[in-house]
Amino acid sequence: MTLPRTTSTAPKALGAGTPRVSVRGLTKRFKTRTREHVALNDVSLDIGPDEFVVLLGPSGCGKTTLLRSIAGLEQPESGEILLDGEPVSSARQGIWVPPEARRLGMVFQSYALWPHMSVFENVAYPLRNAGVASGEIAPRVTQALARVGLEALGASSPGQLSGGQQQRVALARALVATGGLVLFDEPLSNLDAKVRARLRLELATLQRSLGFAALYVTHDQAEALALADRIAVMDSGRIAQIGTPEEIYDSPATRYVADFIGSANEVQGEVESCQADECVVATPVGRLIGRVRAGAIRPGQKVAVMFRPEHCAVGARTADTPTGLNRIEGILERSVFQGAIREHVLRAGEHLVVTLGIGAEAMAQAAPAAVTVPVARTWVYALEDAAG
Ligand SMILES: Nc1ncnc2c1ncn2[C@@H]1O[C@H](COP(=O)(O)OP(=O)(O)OP(=O)(O)O)[C@@H](O)[C@H]1O
Ligand SMILES: [Mg+2]
Repeated sequence: MTLPRTTSTAPKALGAGTPRVSVRGLTKRFKTRTREHVALNDVSLDIGPDEFVVLLGPSGCGKTTLLRSIAGLEQPESGEILLDGEPVSSARQGIWVPPEARRLGMVFQSYALWPHMSVFENVAYPLRNAGVASGEIAPRVTQALARVGLEALGASSPGQLSGGQQQRVALARALVATGGLVLFDEPLSNLDAKVRARLRLELATLQRSLGFAALYVTHDQAEALALADRIAVMDSGRIAQIGTPEEIYDSPATRYVADFIGSANEVQGEVESCQADECVVATPVGRLIGRVRAGAIRPGQKVAVMFRPEHCAVGARTADTPTGLNRIEGILERSVFQGAIREHVLRAGEHLVVTLGIGAEAMAQAAPAAVTVPVARTWVYALEDAAG
């Protein structure tokens, strides 16, 4: 392997250099006897050198299909895939490079190591498969194992290794014969929560020190937020939004993304007036002001007003609302201690508004109270445009 070494843990400059992967307008349909399903619908995505991109979305949204299309295990009907600037799949140009010639590594659920082979043989497998001369295999495997810190364990069998060591074998195997691109399909999904958290931290560290590009599929949002340079949120075969974890979390582009990442309170209502990117919305819990995230919104339109529990504060009712805040009055229904945080739930008519506060004080239940949330943290989405 001749991969660039990076030791920096600072955020990487995204988009510099030729992308490792470029996906352009990819569409993939599956036809069965009873139905035709569009698994990928005009998907475009770039992965920069050494960039870690996470594909996040619910079951059936097309994550594995996109990964398999890049690997050459599915043949898309239209669109193009380029690896290091070279087209490997293009229906228009009649280009099709088979999987074994795409020089990328895959890591599957539970790593899929071969239990009957030694660690050394597991890592050697892709090289033997690619017809690498036998004299070249041992030094390349030794080097790959050394890079992940497993040089002493080549003779062990995978069953004798810890979860972290198995992950490193899977990484060494994925990187040994490739140009430094690894596709991961939910490698940690079969593990319990604590082990998963530890292994994902180790994976992030390894990715930074070894320097490879990754496309990583998960439906675990904590994993996505922890690992990704950028997250692509998928919805029914489309990419709903792509951005840094902060952009996705703090500025969700659609109602679907706001709801899928983190949790959000939602109150529906009708727009009274709009000015610049702010709308005043009449709702059953009172007038709320929010920021429009995408597209044009007009008075009279039905919208969803959304805000996150941790952006809310809860307190006694006061006569006036400071500018820049929305205020919802109600009765405090629950005050639940959750260790580091406390959840308060306010009932405002038919609506429950959830708030979360670090170290928040307990409050008297069944008492009148008010929730405030900054206008800048309140989002307005058109209902008719919203997916899901
Ligand atoms: N070989 C196939 N034949 C027919 N339909 C398929 C095939 N492979 C996938 N699909 C359909 O395409 C859609 C996307 O599947 P895909 O496996 O990409 O989803 P996913 O996002 O990886 O889901 P999960 O999180 O459950 O793994 C699903 O509706 C699935 O049923
Ligand atoms: Mg899948």
